[in-house]
Amino acid sequence: MPAIHLLPDLLINQIAAGEVIERPASALKELLENSLDAGASDIAVQLEGGGIKLLRVRDNGKGIARDDLPLALMRHATSKIASLDDLQRVASMGFRGEALASMAAVAQLSLSSSTALDAHGWKVEARDGQMSEPAPTSHAQGSTVELRELYFNTPARRKFLKSEATEFAHCEETFKRIALSRPDVAFSLQHNGRTVWQLPVQPPAERIAAILGEEFGHAAVSVERQTANLLLQGFAALPAYSRSTRDAQYFFVNGRFVRDKVAGHALRQAYQDILHHQRHPAFVLFLDLPPEQVDVNVHPAKSEVRFRENQGVHQFIFHTLQQALSIPASGGQGAAGTDSKPAPAPPQQQHIGLGAAQQAAAYRLWEMQTGKGERESGKITPTLYSPLTTRHSPEFPPLGYALAQLSGIYILAQNAHGLAVVDMHAAHERIVYEKFKAALDAERIATQPLLIPVTFHAEPLDVATAEANQQALDRLGFDIAPLSPTTLAVRAMPVMLRQAEAETVAFEVLRELREYGASRALTERRDELLATIACHAAVRANHALSITEMNALLREMEQTERTGQCNHGRPTWFQLSLTDLDKMFMRGK
Ligand SMILES: Nc1ncnc2c1ncn2[C@@H]1O[C@H](COP(=O)(O)OP(=O)(O)OP(=O)(O)O)[C@@H](O)[C@H]1O
Ligand SMILES: [Mg+2]
Repeated sequence: MPAIHLLPDLLINQIAAGEVIERPASALKELLENSLDAGASDIAVQLEGGGIKLLRVRDNGKGIARDDLPLALMRHATSKIASLDDLQRVASMGFRGEALASMAAVAQLSLSSSTALDAHGWKVEARDGQMSEPAPTSHAQGSTVELRELYFNTPARRKFLKSEATEFAHCEETFKRIALSRPDVAFSLQHNGRTVWQLPVQPPAERIAAILGEEFGHAAVSVERQTANLLLQGFAALPAYSRSTRDAQYFFVNGRFVRDKVAGHALRQAYQDILHHQRHPAFVLFLDLPPEQVDVNVHPAKSEVRFRENQGVHQFIFHTLQQALSIPASGGQGAAGTDSKPAPAPPQQQHIGLGAAQQAAAYRLWEMQTGKGERESGKITPTLYSPLTTRHSPEFPPLGYALAQLSGIYILAQNAHGLAVVDMHAAHERIVYEKFKAALDAERIATQPLLIPVTFHAEPLDVATAEANQQALDRLGFDIAPLSPTTLAVRAMPVMLRQAEAETVAFEVLRELREYGASRALTERRDELLATIACHAAVRANHALSITEMNALLREMEQTERTGQCNHGRPTWFQLSLTDLDKMFMRGK
């Protein structure tokens, strides 16, 4: 026998299957995608033993004709593309003609199907590369694929499978991703005879709320932006809903769930400014673009794509998200919910940056258009749009008027919906930060000379840093002069900063300049630097504010972008509506 020889077909398929069918969840993904490609509107999944023992997917799609059945199980046989040209503009989920052949090589497979033209269904079975002749069977229009004992004939691979519970968890995640992408299709999932998911055809927001929970719905803003070639839509949660893992991140390109580096980076950047760096944002976003602008043939499980115009896509995602998330505190929350009726968008998303009076007017207009306020949640959530009550007064600005200060930490304010509770330090910190950013960008940080310079002892290194970075300090609004090798004097500082903190702030700014160098500190580290400065500028806890000062802070919050969260991603205010209070006191029961 020659040293080099051709491998038998079964072995070729088993090798290929290693890439395509990594575990039950990958088989489930391929089967669900086939059902969607077949135009199904109802798909039922049944699993046993985490999908290892049995994985059955039944659909009501267009079905497969008798003579095509054996071909469906053969490698490189597909109905979806015919030429390179087709490959370059694939609109279907499948295109390689590999999935079923791979599954047939590593499991016992049966495929039953019936088309609109058939009087009854036909069934083929495959095991160890041997395929049966099509035999009549009873089957309504559509297809059922059944896989039993995954990897029964490749024990080395079977050993790599994890516990039943783990494999089921992966299957469920796959199921959720696909169900999220197609709310126009009904899905169900059973495991070991128990129904785990039953999802009717439903509006996108409802499907998202069903899968990710109402809480996500309440914390999310809707995202939608279109250019000539690109469309991004979906929901992105405000930072208060952030997670410790990436488990609530769903990004789809032309309906396909992908983990894409370009999009991932753009999304991270959009959240960078409002999210603590150890937290992960939550979103469900759909990017659609012409198929010829994205290559889907780059990964065996098709879980990665390559954009022809990386940079354009990055910019588009980043700007769209950043804008959607930069809602001032006067903007409400609550996007994806159970409300299925299409309604005009709440005004805050169209009127970012309006004055309080215009906000209130826009809000009233929106209420008149929709005939209602925000849906009843049953939960106490920080939402501006609570149900209309007879006590509703349109004269209040969104965050209302201050009533009192609580524990030196919170401002209590009455607004149209009840009580707004504001964390004054967090809110002020955000305002100062946003102002600093704008001022630095415009090279206009206002400085204030100190009547009596603040002098203090410093390490020689700090003195040297101050000496070497006069220009950068000047841009930041500081005049820090070395008086001796171990003494510094702050002679002027930004108006926004309070004098009491001069020494601490000076040290922090100098440390940042020393560690990263002036140019980095003012560019890529700019936000961190300004956040540090803002933290010192913001009113401290236990600092008594007059009612006028509190009202001024509330008005500033309404005018400033992103004041719904502090610089660390925590919420800055919370709404307790009259309905919530009534419920607490069981009024009207
Ligand atoms: N549920 C189904 N309903 C109707 N036709 C199906 C179904 N599943 C598979 N087919 C047919 O069988 C063919 C082979 O399916 P298979 O999944 O192996 O390849 P593919 O979907 O064409 O490409 P890929 O390997 O990328 O998934 C498909 O092209 C399709 O014509
Ligand atoms: Mg397929």
